[in-house]
Amino acid sequence: MRIKIGENADENAPVVALEDRGAVPTVAAYDNIILGYPVQFSNAPKMVRDLITENAALWNGKNVLCLVTMGAFSGDGAGCTARLLKKCGATVLGGLHIKMPDSVCDSKLLKKSADENMLIINRAEEKIGRTVLRMKSGKFPRDGLGVFAHAAGLFGQRLWFYSKTNHYSNKLKINKTLCTGCGKCVRVCPMKNLTVENGAVSPHGKCTMCYRCVSLCPQKAITLIGDEVVEQYRFENFRR
Ligand SMILES: Cc1cc2nc3c(=O)[nH]c(=O)nc-3n(C[C@H](O)[C@H](O)[C@H](O)COP(=O)(O)O)c2cc1C
Ligand code: SF4
Ligand code: SF4
Repeated sequence: MRIKIGENADENAPVVALEDRGAVPTVAAYDNIILGYPVQFSNAPKMVRDLITENAALWNGKNVLCLVTMGAFSGDGAGCTARLLKKCGATVLGGLHIKMPDSVCDSKLLKKSADENMLIINRAEEKIGRTVLRMKSGKFPRDGLGVFAHAAGLFGQRLWFYSKTNHYSNKLKINKTLCTGCGKCVRVCPMKNLTVENGAVSPHGKCTMCYRCVSLCPQKAITLIGDEVVEQYRFENFRR
């Protein structure tokens, strides 16, 4: 989705995945950026924080809207990158938290029905629509940016789960009996964390917990937080 920010915004501004080689040059080419990511324990994924800090000079002078998706609660999910971006010299235009169907597909606890997920998507679209209208009149959302959100994120989650988001994860589990060595997980991993050797997949401790491989493995051979794949999520499952 493209959102027009400001009077001189480029309607054809590109959407680029953070892991793409073109991400850094694309950010460099534009003044107004929407940085989107899923919240993890009221923090930004390690990959997102690394992209900011390892390219600190890139953000100097940029205007950034932090757009965060969440399963339920994200505290200061937008604030986490907002603070990093400000240190790099960026102006934070706003923060937007959007509830989406949960991607953690190896836990029964978080599983919702297709109807419930459709409702969540409809509400997300409505919130985005309302927000875009307000942004056109110069009013930017402040989700996750205030002092109360900071305290909620820090004391509600980040302090207790810091060990999970401080490093890349080495907790990915591959069921070698189920794995056929097809290589699909290797191709979708944004971290190049997976390799196939002698017909079996191995993780290399650099997982940013995106859940792509867990959701896409045809054999349901990969788990991360849970121990069994309950349902693999596909965006098209929920289209009207
Ligand atoms: C490791 C991990 C931690 C997560 N922590 C949170 C959290 O603290 N709060 C929350 O609401 N959702 C949490 N989620 C759920 C994701 O944020 C959610 O699935 C995602 O935003 C869905 O949106 P997407 O369609 O952009 O992936 C977590 C997911 C993972 C994989
Ligand atoms: S996608 Fe699944 S079956 Fe294919 S190589 Fe990866 S773990 Fe094995
Ligand atoms: S969840 Fe899978 S695809 Fe995502 S970073 Fe980890 S290993 Fe790669």
